[in-house]
Amino acid sequence: MNSPDRLIIGNDEFVPLFSEEQIQQRIQELAKQISSEYKSAIPVFIGVLNGSFLFMSDLIRYLTIDCEVDFFKLSSYGDAKISSGNVKLLKELNCEVNERDIIIVEDIVDTGLSIKYIEELFTEKSPKSMKVVSLLVKPGSLKYDVKIDYIGFRIPDKFVIGYGLDYAQKYRNLRGIYVLNEKGE
Ligand code: IMP
Ligand code: MG
Repeated sequence: MNSPDRLIIGNDEFVPLFSEEQIQQRIQELAKQISSEYKSAIPVFIGVLNGSFLFMSDLIRYLTIDCEVDFFKLSSYGDAKISSGNVKLLKELNCEVNERDIIIVEDIVDTGLSIKYIEELFTEKSPKSMKVVSLLVKPGSLKYDVKIDYIGFRIPDKFVIGYGLDYAQKYRNLRGIYVLNEKGE
């Protein structure tokens, strides 16, 4: 139902990039790796809203270790397809991260600005350790020096939607990930 062969949105065409099965397979692999590396810890998974909510829910259900979960919210894109270059904190974190092993959960790292901002925000709160897991990374778009510890897929520098990722707040409920078809350029 939520897995069309292609999507027409205004003048844009989006085509499948990763199927539901490919996404789930890769998340299981990430969960296995994280579970083995955090055997003796109870990490706090901190999701960056809104994009990471589906990834977070699948990732933690594949874990074989105990964990805690929290979310906070950033805004950088507004309704555009290109980053505004500004990051705002829209929802504060409620949990205590001091001396905890934290894992930041992102849907996608594009320029790296959000992760850079998050790293600075959390370093002040003195966690015991801090790692980042992102389902998608666009290596060609990175402008900031950031380390992503666990990467689901490296993708080309193109706009993607689905599986939590939005375009003007819509299409997050697609089961797969779709990429903007730029063959006309
Ligand atoms: P960055 O700060 O430039 O790394 O951008 C990170 C945030 O921008 C992500 O967490 C997403 O919310 C959003 N974003 C980046 N690329 C895309 C995309 O291709 N589709 C939808 N959202 C995106
Ligand atoms: Mg995000």
